[in-house]
Amino acid sequence: MKNLLLIALSFFIFCACQNKVRYESFTPGELWLDNNGMHINAHGGGILYIDGLYYWFGEHKTEGEAGNVANVGVHCYSSSDLYNWTDEGIALSVDPEGSGSDIEKGCILERPKVIYNKQTGKYVMWFHLEPKGKGYKGALSGVAVSDQATGPYRYLKAVRPNKGFYPSNVQEIHKGVSKAEGQSFSGASLPEHVDSLNILGRDFAGGQMARDMNLFVDDDQTAYHIYSSEENSTLHIAKLTPDYLDYSGEYGRFFPNRFMEAPAMFKKEGKYYLMMSGCTGWSPNEARSAVASDIMGEWKELGNPCIGPDADKTFYSQSTYLLPVQGQSGRLIYMGDRWTPENAIDGRYIWLPVKFEGERFVIEWESEWRL
Ligand code: GAL
Repeated sequence: MKNLLLIALSFFIFCACQNKVRYESFTPGELWLDNNGMHINAHGGGILYIDGLYYWFGEHKTEGEAGNVANVGVHCYSSSDLYNWTDEGIALSVDPEGSGSDIEKGCILERPKVIYNKQTGKYVMWFHLEPKGKGYKGALSGVAVSDQATGPYRYLKAVRPNKGFYPSNVQEIHKGVSKAEGQSFSGASLPEHVDSLNILGRDFAGGQMARDMNLFVDDDQTAYHIYSSEENSTLHIAKLTPDYLDYSGEYGRFFPNRFMEAPAMFKKEGKYYLMMSGCTGWSPNEARSAVASDIMGEWKELGNPCIGPDADKTFYSQSTYLLPVQGQSGRLIYMGDRWTPENAIDGRYIWLPVKFEGERFVIEWESEWRL
């Protein structure tokens, strides 16, 4: 009898220690525990769906850290139902302090995204990289590769996009002298319109700036890198090479002087849609949206896709991904970050259903919802 009691007690303790929560709904803004009972640590993330599983990649934040310093790397989780996530560990690790590597501990490594290349069989990760100790001046794009979805990913390089290439919609002014030569700017504004300053021309030889970013794979498997460029003032959409490891040199520039950040793209019924934020750092702002029949433009702005209370603050979040739900045609989830720069690891995830109204998509707050 005593033994039986002991076994029952051990079983109870075992279960309690597992701290397992089984989710059957989304509760945006609440703590979201993984299979180990830990709040999911995958900020500024994106999702790859392959072979029946969703893989969530995002920035691993550390306790007490004020925002963006990469001390660990890119965290990966997997799920079959989108509610319950299994910790798959660190997919891309930063290199040790003092190593001098581009991705040395203490660098800024943001908004990682992974796509799968059917031709090469490789998983390719892109992220925004700022080498350690240089603030946001680097504006580089990092690339890493793996044979498995969960990694480990091997860091390849960090580059400035489209060095020596003009965009398909280049204007004459960009081929002339740049008024921005030798200057860098901060904040979400420029002293003049970006086109008259010609920041594109300034960066023509060395490569364009790339900060907030996303990836998009089209139906024909062509992949695109979407990034805030030209001192954040202008969004670029760049075609990658067939192996997804480089820029093809073909790109377009859109929304000049609109300072779009946090871009996320999806395609529905042959049309491309973008969601973006304004440029106010960790503080939430009013989101923007746009539609195009051709990914290389013309893009038409559709205004703030958020509706209802707190729509002007994107429900206190910033876009990071628009996730197509598998097996449910036309069904998408808005994935946003509610940043907590005072303790970055506590950042919350705002996932909400995307609905369609006429030619635009809309997002409305729901405190609990199911697929
Ligand atoms: C945000 C951006 C984040 C991060 C932050 C730093 O605007 O979307 O990814 O870079 O600024 O202040």
